[in-house]
Amino acid sequence: MITLNVNGTARAVETDSATPLLYVLRDHLALNGAKFGCGLGQCGACTVMIGGEAAFSCLVPVSLVGSREVKTIEGLGTIDNPGVVQQAFIDEQAAQCGYCIAGMVMRAQALLERKPDPSDAEIRRAMAPSLCRCGTHMRILRAVRRAADAMRGAPAAAPVALR
Ligand code: FES
Ligand code: FES
Repeated sequence: MITLNVNGTARAVETDSATPLLYVLRDHLALNGAKFGCGLGQCGACTVMIGGEAAFSCLVPVSLVGSREVKTIEGLGTIDNPGVVQQAFIDEQAAQCGYCIAGMVMRAQALLERKPDPSDAEIRRAMAPSLCRCGTHMRILRAVRRAADAMRGAPAAAPVALR
């Protein structure tokens, strides 16, 4: 039995200690926001936050998480009440298929908690480990900038019009 702190709640799971955190989140805790893409640490679809840092949950054995808080996209907000980063991704229409987006949002969240006013170069560097096969990278970068501005109380640009 392993106990995890997930989105501020203690969750006990019966699993092998080598099971990747991603499988525990999806298969044991029904937290399906983080996605399986490559299973090799190469795509970022599985990204969650562990102890405040973005991490590939497909590569982290659940036994290595310890007492660090695991934060998933389900912990940031809801459909009715999205978190700041989630809202920015909506406003910029940053998703196409959406497969990469939970990982992108978590990577952006980790960046902005660490650095509230990143430069564009810092945003690009921080987001680089996550890939978007649909090619919405430019919208994703705009969404991260929008979220940073919103968190600092800067006036928001008009949302991108739906096409
Ligand atoms: S599924 Fe984890 S990096 Fe691709
Ligand atoms: S929106 Fe489809 S992979 Fe990114």
